[in-house]
Amino acid sequence: MAEALKKIQKIGVYTSGGDSPGMNAAIRAVVRSSVYYGLTVSGIYRGYEGMIDNDIIDEMDVRSVNQILQKGGTILESARCEEFRTPEGRLKAYKNLKARKIDALVAIGGNGTFTGAELLSQEHGIPIIGIPGTIDNDLNGTDYTVGFDTATNTAISAVDNIRNTAMSHNRLFFVEVMGRNSGFIAANTGLASGAVDILIPEREGSIDAIVEKLEKGRLRKKTSSIVVVAEGCKLGSTADIAQQVCSKLNYFDAKVTILGHIQRGGNPTSFDRILASRLGVAAVEGLIAGKKNVMAGLIKNEVVYTSFKDAIIEKDYVDEEVLRVANILSI
Ligand code: F6P
Repeated sequence: MAEALKKIQKIGVYTSGGDSPGMNAAIRAVVRSSVYYGLTVSGIYRGYEGMIDNDIIDEMDVRSVNQILQKGGTILESARCEEFRTPEGRLKAYKNLKARKIDALVAIGGNGTFTGAELLSQEHGIPIIGIPGTIDNDLNGTDYTVGFDTATNTAISAVDNIRNTAMSHNRLFFVEVMGRNSGFIAANTGLASGAVDILIPEREGSIDAIVEKLEKGRLRKKTSSIVVVAEGCKLGSTADIAQQVCSKLNYFDAKVTILGHIQRGGNPTSFDRILASRLGVAAVEGLIAGKKNVMAGLIKNEVVYTSFKDAIIEKDYVDEEVLRVANILSI
């Protein structure tokens, strides 16, 4: 006979890993939908670190998430926690959850967050549902992760500003965007800002290929050139790449701009607010329906649940179509 579904009464919610714009909207959705369905919800500070340290708000109510929908960052704060990588750390965390009668969790984060969630659940049996919260868009099981759209818009608006000065001085700019292992921000930023080339970790690329594109642009009297580089680009650091390119094309006055953490902050776009709100509700409804150890995502505008294991397999593809179109348009 099938095991009777254990009724969930108290959910713990946390954000972990690199923060992303829209995490607050997700927290709000988890808290409000839990209250809507008659559940109690606890807020765990600083992800797994707070779980281990017992840094937990025992009960969040509807008002505790007032006015956060539109704000970047995460009111629950975030961390990357070494101790949680050990079975002892996870046991400590579980004991704190048990003492507070938290019987299910909603984890908002990326790869590392879901790797930890899978282990905690396997070892201690607590059901967990994830919400993809990372600017990198590097999870399977969802078309977009919460924060990607905002981060990309931030990068695009920075490149637009750079373009103004680049045109005025006839300069070449190498603009580094985030993405240690993932080129989604770079690809979309490059296409939307008219970059002459886009360098991403998933593609080898070569200095000669960049040089060839820049030379073509110069011959057609292009007044500014932007190369968008993902931070994890395999050709080297952005400064190295710029230096190597300029050694072959010394008539270019080249500058390097690293956008850095500016991309992680800021008010979430409407896209990220809506995505986070839908997935927050989907996570709570999934737990109530007995789902566990899955990530809620949106594929073709429908909610889908994907096992943590599948969600975190490194995405071995890039958005070929975005890159193809960017390449055609950069002639
Ligand atoms: O995973 C999100 C991300 O912003 C990556 O794009 C970036 O490489 C990394 O986090 C930076 O992490 P930290 O803020 O810990 O330096």
